Amino acid sequence: MALVILVLLLTIGLTANAAELETFIVHLDSSNGPQSLQKQDRENWYKSFLPQTTTGSNDDDEPTMVFAYHNVLSGFAAKLSAEHVKAMENMDGFLFARPERMYSKQTTHTPNFLGLHQNLGFWSGSSYGKGVIIGLLDSGTTPSHPSFNDNGVSPPPAKWKGKCEVDGCNNKLIGLRDLTKGGNGSDTRFDQDGHGTHTSSTAGGNFVYNASVFGNARGTAVGMAPLAHVAMYRVCTDDDCRESAILAGMDVAVEDGVDVLSLSLGGESLPFYQDGIALGAFTAIQKGIFVACSAANSGPFNSTLSNEAPWILTVGASTLDRQIVSTVSLGNKALLDGETLFQPKDFPQTYMPLVYPGSNGDQNMSLCIEGSLDNVDVKGKVVVCDRGVNARLAKGQTVLDAGGAAMILLNQESDGDSTLADAHVLPASHVGYKSGVAIKTYISSTASPTATLLFRGTVIGVDSAPAVTSFSSRGPSLASPGILKPDIIGPGVSVLAAWPFSVDNITQTSSTFNVISGTSMSCPHLAGIAALLKAAHPLWSPAAIKSAIMTTAYQVSLNDKAYRGRKRAPCRHIRQDYIPYLCGLGYTTQEIGIIVNKKVSCLKTIPEGQLNYPSFTTTLAKGENKTYSRTVTNVGEANSTYTISVTNVSIPKGIELIVHNATLRFTEVNQKLSYSLTFNRNSDVEGDVSFGEGAMAWSSGKYLVRTPFAIMYT
Ligand SMILES: *[C@@H]1O[C@H](CO)[C@@H](O)[C@H](O)[C@H]1NC(C)=O
Ligand SMILES: *[C@@H]1O[C@H](CO)[C@@H](O)[C@H](O)[C@H]1NC(C)=O
Ligand SMILES: *[C@@H]1O[C@H](CO)[C@@H](O)[C@H](O)[C@H]1NC(C)=O
Ligand SMILES: *[C@@H]1O[C@H](CO)[C@@H](O)[C@H](O)[C@H]1NC(C)=O
Ligand SMILES: *[C@@H]1O[C@H](CO)[C@@H](O)[C@H](O)[C@H]1NC(C)=O
Ligand SMILES: *[C@@H]1O[C@H](CO)[C@@H](O)[C@H](O)[C@H]1NC(C)=O
Ligand SMILES: *[C@@H]1O[C@H](CO)[C@@H](O)[C@H](O)[C@H]1NC(C)=O
Ligand SMILES: *[C@@H]1O[C@H](CO)[C@@H](O)[C@H](O)[C@H]1NC(C)=O
Ligand SMILES: *[C@@H]1O[C@H](CO)[C@@H](O)[C@H](O)[C@H]1NC(C)=O
Repeated sequence: MALVILVLLLTIGLTANAAELETFIVHLDSSNGPQSLQKQDRENWYKSFLPQTTTGSNDDDEPTMVFAYHNVLSGFAAKLSAEHVKAMENMDGFLFARPERMYSKQTTHTPNFLGLHQNLGFWSGSSYGKGVIIGLLDSGTTPSHPSFNDNGVSPPPAKWKGKCEVDGCNNKLIGLRDLTKGGNGSDTRFDQDGHGTHTSSTAGGNFVYNASVFGNARGTAVGMAPLAHVAMYRVCTDDDCRESAILAGMDVAVEDGVDVLSLSLGGESLPFYQDGIALGAFTAIQKGIFVACSAANSGPFNSTLSNEAPWILTVGASTLDRQIVSTVSLGNKALLDGETLFQPKDFPQTYMPLVYPGSNGDQNMSLCIEGSLDNVDVKGKVVVCDRGVNARLAKGQTVLDAGGAAMILLNQESDGDSTLADAHVLPASHVGYKSGVAIKTYISSTASPTATLLFRGTVIGVDSAPAVTSFSSRGPSLASPGILKPDIIGPGVSVLAAWPFSVDNITQTSSTFNVISGTSMSCPHLAGIAALLKAAHPLWSPAAIKSAIMTTAYQVSLNDKAYRGRKRAPCRHIRQDYIPYLCGLGYTTQEIGIIVNKKVSCLKTIPEGQLNYPSFTTTLAKGENKTYSRTVTNVGEANSTYTISVTNVSIPKGIELIVHNATLRFTEVNQKLSYSLTFNRNSDVEGDVSFGEGAMAWSSGKYLVRTPFAIMYT
């Protein structure tokens, strides 16, 4: 008895002590440190900041180093208490310390759902990304997966210094490291989650013929840059992604020699000097590494973005022109298309009673919350559930448990018309908002409404696509409202890619692909595109690649077709003066020093809108005008003349666009020319309009360079 109590007390004591220690990111002033380039010297200097504990009796309250950083910042991550941090504050070279924050993977919060295959574009001219190394920071990956076969992939280039901590790497998957345990040894269960396997195969997976899920959607699964190399830095466990590990992943990746980084991770908006991804990405681009990040999944609400720094390509999510269709057939003969992945072949084509249990105003019943339909007679009926609050698949389970025959899942108004092909547990159809209104109107208009579902399989050529999907986070940016974000959208709805294990319990095939949605899925598409551009133009800087991607994209379209021929659009916004820009954001020189990793002064300051960015955003009151200038570099043919193309300018009503230097006459490659643009708001913008958007385009007759803009009316 006494022993048991003692053990209990000890456990409580340990827990209490351990809880006091938190992982802090500690920033140091490198000019106070050793000037030697030896890592060991630097690490010894870092260690000298760790307070010596006097008691030494209990290991659990000892400060411990978690990571020593060598590239992305001067400093380290350590497990510390508030007292430890206080003790460091007076030491020479200490700048500041802050508790690390958590980032999360950017998939929509739904369980597995499968189906659909990618039918990707053409790669000629970019050698399928040959020789380019794409690094991903994620939950790990699955070396044995067929998507990581190395058929046709050359050995990694000589500059590659990375390593593989488990068996199974090859010329395709050239690096795999686990940074989730303070870099101490690797977890043998790499990627239990699936997220990282999915994102890495989307960016750089090789061809897998005859891939299928649920026995349908058969086809070739392949990533955007099928002959590129892939390196995975595991920074996320199943639950979360620690900032200290993300910084470590980027610290190692820039040294290993990656060309492109893809981070399908994000957290809430913070000033850039407090955001590990922004810090790491700044170092990466200085070393010529392109960085793509997810825009986050908190749409459709305004100012919900992650990863807003202008040196990052911030990627939102669009729909694909492919759907796995189940059509709702109502008793009044109306046909309304929806989606589901699970497509039963034997569903009876007879009309069944149609019910909307939420019509009585009970919110739980309208959402089909677990247990809410227990006392409702839905047996053998088609049941209508509203989207939101609980998981989409859970709603189907509620209906199934209550004896329902099928479910129709309706979008809320804020979800618009974008639907998802989920692996529902019963026959189902997910329909858009307008269809939902039609269904509810029909139900209330007749005494005995009926419906059935028609399963039509995969349909290509959906004309509404690509459209920004509802969950994709929206601007304006909070950290830097003068920069238009997100930069671009890519396919992020119902995307098929590799998965560590079979999720197909229905047909019991061994196929290991999965369909998931999120800006996590769109980000690696753009990282793969960047790899193709890098293969085609090895000398282009990250800013040149970004400008190429942004100025040649179709206005709303970023599906694969849009990339054909994009490699040659030849006039770029390349040089970007980040230090004057950061000064203009009002950051202190110390805060800027933390981002750019050196001592700076704010001799020159520019407003955000003057950063040489390939898009514009501004706010205008009635009668107000604002002028911005840009410098473009000719990366095409020596003699080329660009003029503002009138047919490709779209200007919102009430806005006058005045271009100074409306003709750019280049005579040399890499020549730089400047133009400026005045946005002038006339007084006739309608009262209830709060913003306008448009684009201007430079045309050389042969090429078109598009620059989008957004204007907020105040
Ligand atoms: C990693 O291992 C070293 C040496 O065994 C140890 O000192 C350090 O505390 C470990 N770090 C973590 C985060 O466990
Ligand atoms: C594709 O795979 C299926 C099994 O999933 C198999 O029955 C079929 O023969 C395969 N087709 C080809 C062309 O390999
Ligand atoms: C976002 O802001 C715009 C412009 O102020 C407004 O029209 C729109 O309703 C807002 N959307 C949401 C979802 O809050
Ligand atoms: C609705 O469901 C939630 C979650 O299951 C539950 O906490 C709540 O009590 C329910 N409300 C009603 C009115 O039944
Ligand atoms: C599929 O089967 C596995 C193993 O039998 C089980 O753990 C998992 O929950 C099943 N998944 C679904 C969606 O039923
Ligand atoms: C822009 O505003 C300035 C200051 O109000 C004014 O002098 C100028 O005429 C305006 N330009 C145009 C093109 O309206
Ligand atoms: C560009 O055009 C100018 C004048 O037409 C000509 O003198 C020059 O040789 C041309 N340069 C090239 C590289 O073609
Ligand atoms: C530019 O304008 C032409 C003519 O109206 C049109 O065919 C083309 O699609 C436009 N291109 C873009 C990128 O908007
Ligand atoms: C127009 O071009 C000339 C020559 O390149 C340059 O000196 C001037 O600054 C440019 N004007 C604007 C408004 O950008």
